[in-house]
Amino acid sequence: MPLRALARVDLGAIERNARRLAATAGPAALCAVVKADAYGHGMVPAARAAQAGGASWLAVATAEEARGLREGGIEGPVLVMGALSPEEVAVALAARADVLAWREAFVAALPGDGDVGVHVKLDTGMGRLGTRDPDEATRVAEAVAARDGLRLAGAMTHFATADDDPEFLAEQLAAFTPWARSVKAAHPEVLVHAANSAATLREPAARFDLVRCGIAVYGMDPFHEDPAAHGLEPALTLVSYVAEVKDAQPGQSAGYGRRFVAERPTRIGTLPIGYGDGVRRGLTNNADVLIDGRRVPLVGTVSMDNITVDLDGADLAPGAEAVLIGAQGGKRILAEEWARRLDTINYEVTCGISARVPRVHTA
Ligand SMILES: Cc1ncc(COP(=O)(O)O)c(C=O)c1O
Repeated sequence: MPLRALARVDLGAIERNARRLAATAGPAALCAVVKADAYGHGMVPAARAAQAGGASWLAVATAEEARGLREGGIEGPVLVMGALSPEEVAVALAARADVLAWREAFVAALPGDGDVGVHVKLDTGMGRLGTRDPDEATRVAEAVAARDGLRLAGAMTHFATADDDPEFLAEQLAAFTPWARSVKAAHPEVLVHAANSAATLREPAARFDLVRCGIAVYGMDPFHEDPAAHGLEPALTLVSYVAEVKDAQPGQSAGYGRRFVAERPTRIGTLPIGYGDGVRRGLTNNADVLIDGRRVPLVGTVSMDNITVDLDGADLAPGAEAVLIGAQGGKRILAEEWARRLDTINYEVTCGISARVPRVHTA
């Protein structure tokens, strides 16, 4: 019996994407960003695949994610990029992860009784975490370097518009580079890092010592169009199956609110996947599904557990596989297509596939 909803994750694709990014970024090293369950792909297997492809660092957002990596048997350098409460710092350090700092008080409160790697964050325009003041960032770096048990490991920033505004990217880069150079001059062992996927692909000057790539590792396009344009392979396929086939006569409807009413005899397939699985309700009458090698329209309202499609008269027995994101019979539906239809970004599409959907990893 087919599973009602399943995300197949091709670890070979993740490995190849990582290898390609590492080659593009070289001599800079690759840090694979595996936060948010590796953008919905399954954190530990995705991390292992990225490492196999040449990622020498991993980055997460939370201390719990760092702990999850270690509990999953992942070794190697891990950076926690998010803000941390004192309790969370303890969890991150127990997981042997590096942490960020941008205030001297935070550094002073760090338990410096081990070999704690600290990366200082300059806010050059993202306006979230980090200090906007390069002098404060330098004082923080010196405070880290001066403390026994702490190690000044990195000098970093994060770009706000690498995907869609190269001018602001250039401004941020211009603000970051002299500060990063001065830290590096005083502490040559420090890793300078700034680039996300978009900056890695578009701006060689942003690569420094290490690039932090997330979206591209999973084979999605940081520029929201076609990952193939950058030699990237989508790793995730979201599948369901045709559980029920029925004919609707003119005037008969499908789904809540009768938002699809048949105008002619229509063969309807019901797929047991819905917004409870991450098929957003905004896809109501606004998506296609691949069935039997054909693109057929989703018709009617997306329910929590079901959707309905117009099978275009196909004489299908229940059980046929349905691909919601991915390829079938030479046709494909990208996460980028969902993102356009939903007025969002590919990141949110795969992160939004809920925990109810089993991830099945293949090599
Ligand atoms: C600080 C930081 N660096 C790097 C990344 C990776 O970005 P991307 O997935 O666009 O490559 C993220 C993700 O949002 C991030 O928050």
